[in-house]
Amino acid sequence: MPEPLSQSLPDPLSEPLPDPLPDPLSDPLSDPLGDLTARLRAAGSVFAEDEAALLLDAAPDRSENLEALVVRRLGGEPLEQVLGWADFAGVRVRLLPGVFVPRQRTALLVDLAAAVLAPGDVVVDLCCGSGALLAALLERRPGAIGHAGDLDATAVACARLNLSPHSVHQGDLYDALPDHLRGRIDVLVVNAPYVPTAAIAQLPPEARDHEPHLALDGGPDGLDLHRRVARGACAWLAPDGMLLIEVSPGQLSAAMALLARAGLVPEAVEDPERAALAVRARPRRLE
Ligand SMILES: C[S@@+](CC[C@H](N)C(=O)[O-])C[C@H]1O[C@@H](n2cnc3c(N)ncnc32)[C@H](O)[C@@H]1O
Repeated sequence: MPEPLSQSLPDPLSEPLPDPLPDPLSDPLSDPLGDLTARLRAAGSVFAEDEAALLLDAAPDRSENLEALVVRRLGGEPLEQVLGWADFAGVRVRLLPGVFVPRQRTALLVDLAAAVLAPGDVVVDLCCGSGALLAALLERRPGAIGHAGDLDATAVACARLNLSPHSVHQGDLYDALPDHLRGRIDVLVVNAPYVPTAAIAQLPPEARDHEPHLALDGGPDGLDLHRRVARGACAWLAPDGMLLIEVSPGQLSAAMALLARAGLVPEAVEDPERAALAVRARPRRLE
């Protein structure tokens, strides 16, 4: 019969401790960046080395905290949610778990809004998520007066970290906004959910499993929120105000038509470099 393991192995309690204790930071043989890169690459990360460097920066003491972040990332959570921030259109915004990660293509709305905003103008970010759009806009146009709204309590809490907290309102589309803004909005930026319900199952797992469906689901044709935004736009926009709303290419003609039916004059704006598409619309002038 083989010897029991407990008798064949040295007793760790009676063994002298190595002197000095190995320190992964000063140990010339330890390679935290290389090790973490290898783990992330094995899990399928395309930018494993960049991600590893960011995760190491996020947990400079390299303690269990780092391991907790790595486990979340290996579990498929978006890197930005794990790090707690996202870079968007020139600003770094705080991001809470469960809040939509701002996409780079949405910077088109920021460019279009910044081009027309003057000091003192009112700009509203509906369906604001983290508040990234408004934060980026106010960075570029600090003289504008910004308000943001979202239905989701976590998104509102997150946006309040990135914007003046009193300017972030919780509620269903325009219901969230203070009434004194009615008819006074100079620029309304909206990146509302627009994924058709049936297409959510085909999204990458990072989005499908870690972003709330409230942030993705645009109803049967993806345009439920756009229809409701369009219906309220003329009442909330200033007479010469502007609505800027993101769409996907397959939805463009339907979105233009529903905006026209709501009394707006829509115009498509394409940004091939960012693979972005938006509709710019103003209330139709009465002759
Ligand atoms: C696609 S995400 C965009 C977030 C942000 N605008 C961005 O681009 O990062 C859509 C957001 O709309 C919000 N939302 C969904 N339905 C809403 C509603 N009826 N009223 C207000 N916000 C809503 C979601 O909570 C989510 O934060």
